[in-house]
Amino acid sequence: MHKSVLLEECLKYLNLQDDSIVVDATLGYAGHSSRILQEIPNGFLYAFDQDKEATICSNNRLKKIRSNYEIIHNNFIFLKEELTKRNINHIDAILFDLGVSSPQLDEDERGFSFHKDARLDMRMNQEQSLSAYQVVNEYEQEDLIRIFRKYGEEKYAVSIAKKIVEQRVKKPIATTLELVEIIKESTPEKYKREKHPARKVFQAIRIEVNQELSVFESALKQALSMVKLHGRICVITFHSLEDKICKEIFKDVSDLNPALKNMPVIPEAYLPPFKIIKTLTPSKQELEENKRARSAKLRVIERVKEG
Ligand SMILES: C[S@@+](CC[C@H](N)C(=O)[O-])C[C@H]1O[C@@H](n2cnc3c(N)ncnc32)[C@H](O)[C@@H]1O
Repeated sequence: MHKSVLLEECLKYLNLQDDSIVVDATLGYAGHSSRILQEIPNGFLYAFDQDKEATICSNNRLKKIRSNYEIIHNNFIFLKEELTKRNINHIDAILFDLGVSSPQLDEDERGFSFHKDARLDMRMNQEQSLSAYQVVNEYEQEDLIRIFRKYGEEKYAVSIAKKIVEQRVKKPIATTLELVEIIKESTPEKYKREKHPARKVFQAIRIEVNQELSVFESALKQALSMVKLHGRICVITFHSLEDKICKEIFKDVSDLNPALKNMPVIPEAYLPPFKIIKTLTPSKQELEENKRARSAKLRVIERVKEG
């Protein structure tokens, strides 16, 4: 079962009204969406997920609450396109709770976990063609090094990539545990005692397979362009690369031009369109109750000027 992260905080900062038009960009198992739906009896919820199983499961959960929602089985990179198709050009609130859900991690056959033996897969959308198998067996050594460094911040990127290339010439690397073994053989003993040695490489491959960073960046910009005056965006990230993207984009739209900072009165036209409301991490109690919350960070922004 998936335990939602920062649930109460999101509910508070989304600032929902009875009739709000809300988007949950990452429906998952509807933890956040079920609570959102309860808050908007006269509004509407559009919930995206690219994972078919998640949409089926969540529909069963949401339909018991009320019917003013629609689940959109698609990647949230199509946020604007999907909403404008439905004549929705402006929204009151949107939530991104990034990454994978616990069921995705726990289901052996999805191949996300370095603890469980499975075919190398890691696709959130089971219908897409690129999988972890292709990344590991077909990417050039230089590309493996680049993604391990960039998306995993892995300091043994070169030795791990070299070993992968050496092994796959003999026989394709087909499973998660085969890959874990190769990573273990390419990293020093000391490294293995710190944290699981495959953690960063698995993160990097998952980001590559699902193009997580570029997709998020594009969708967040779309969300900013759609949110109404006083509308809010809440983003929960789970690693520094996602968080950096969010932080920089939020800064760009909420910072006053430094050249204007010393002006006694700033003309309305030069005021930034957004205001940062809050950045927070889970409470001590949540961290004790939910291991997945450990690296979570919530950022909240509000539109303060008509766009
Ligand atoms: C952390 S879970 C969300 C959990 C949810 N908030 C809850 O409380 O049950 C993230 C979900 O977002 C989905 N997801 C991640 N990236 C996506 C994308 N680019 N487009 C659509 N869905 C995405 C994943 O498939 C996963 O189900």
